[in-house]
Amino acid sequence: MTFDTVIHGGTVVTAEGQFQGDVGIAQGRIAAVAERIEGGARRIDAGGRLVLPGGIEAHAHIAQESSAGVMSADDYLSGSISAAFGGNSSFIPFAAQHRGQSVDEVIATYDARGARSVIDYSYHLIISDPTPEVLQDQLPRAFARGITSFKVFMTYDLMNLGDAGMLDILTVARTHGAITMVHAENNDMVKWMNRQLAARGLTAPKYHAISRPELAEEEAIHRAIQLAKLVDAPLFIVHVSTARGAEIVRQEKFNGARLFAETCPQYLALTRDDLDRPGMEGAKFICSPPLRGADTQAALWHHIAQGTFESVSSDHAPYRFDETGKFLNGADAPYPKIANGMPGIAARLPWLFSEGVVKGRITAEQFVALSSTNAARTFGCTTKGRIAPGMDADIAIWNPETRRVVTQADMHDNMDYTPFEGMELQGVPEIVMTRGEMIVEHGSLKAREGQGRFFGRAPVDPRGRQGYLAPEFDPAQNFGTVLR
Ligand code: URP
Ligand code: ZN
Ligand code: ZN
Ligand code: ZN
Repeated sequence: MTFDTVIHGGTVVTAEGQFQGDVGIAQGRIAAVAERIEGGARRIDAGGRLVLPGGIEAHAHIAQESSAGVMSADDYLSGSISAAFGGNSSFIPFAAQHRGQSVDEVIATYDARGARSVIDYSYHLIISDPTPEVLQDQLPRAFARGITSFKVFMTYDLMNLGDAGMLDILTVARTHGAITMVHAENNDMVKWMNRQLAARGLTAPKYHAISRPELAEEEAIHRAIQLAKLVDAPLFIVHVSTARGAEIVRQEKFNGARLFAETCPQYLALTRDDLDRPGMEGAKFICSPPLRGADTQAALWHHIAQGTFESVSSDHAPYRFDETGKFLNGADAPYPKIANGMPGIAARLPWLFSEGVVKGRITAEQFVALSSTNAARTFGCTTKGRIAPGMDADIAIWNPETRRVVTQADMHDNMDYTPFEGMELQGVPEIVMTRGEMIVEHGSLKAREGQGRFFGRAPVDPRGRQGYLAPEFDPAQNFGTVLR
């Protein structure tokens, strides 16, 4: 066999284990994994380094208007470059439907935006307007293109679908084998809190955290799961930020719900005290759900280590600290008028490696699962997320010893700040490849604009565990009428 590239002498880490060995790449795919592979037009010496499946970033807002209409600072070029410097070989940002838009129009818009990406990409479809045409025709068409995940919101007035709207989406998703993702926060609790705070003139950034209580997330997570169970649909809870929310996910998984979940570095690296930095500095840390207390961090680490979460994702939602982003509504805007979100696509994996693997909270195998393999499985990326013959040669070579202090320049994005500034991290992705092509090599960008390809995804993994069926839908338990 002839190889275009052989990576030799590294420690290959998969979600299941690790071994010393070589990886042979031919025509963009992994062609062989063996103790020793000779030849190769190019040989990469990975001695002393870890050879991992390239990260898959499953939660990022790229070239996306927020519900309030603010365009993210990163487009598919800068966003994908930043992702690659952070050890990612592919990503799945959102294609967002705003009310009144057809899904076909949304996908065409994102196809034009995505064409600039340097790494492979797919989309999760955000649905804010589930009209009969959307449910009956447009979603099935999106699904047929390999867009097999739909995201809904339980909060934000312009996005919130209500319980019945969610049941409609969950049902369509179930019919086609798609997975529904949900941003779970109780909209009315948040709005009521906003009114209480506004009436008292409490509008500084720190009140953002007060306005979105932990209970609002916990209630919505619980409710979303019951809605999914009613129609036996798989569900993915994005950005879990509370100990109790994670506990609910764990219990429901244990009881057999077809449930998946993620948390994000910001909920473990930062706290709501960061919202109280001097002046308007706190605006940099406004995201939803908001940052929580320090006690939450230990609980979330416990759940990461125990397997409650499939993934740790960035929720990269970049809005600059200027009048194009955070301060579009003025330099001293009240917190509800400050764009929600923070950047983190380049910091996610270096942070997780350093705080997780280096500090002994998770194993290197868990790191691979949380950064890549589980996302591939959950979201139907059948050719990605594993180092095995036949898979795309999406590979990141990490130096586990290199120490670095996080700076904005290292993020390689279009932002003017990083919330991780000044953190001391150990472990750097030195080489990142997508389908065998060098994207990042020792701190330099090797890719060209548009090199990434769109990838369609498979239906939800049928090997997933059996779901729970509400009695009203269960032929074995019904009262003579099965609602199907
Ligand atoms: O604050 C965040 N996460 N902004 C992005 C939009 C969302 O809520 O997912
Ligand atoms: Zn070798
Ligand atoms: Zn969200
Ligand atoms: Zn998000």
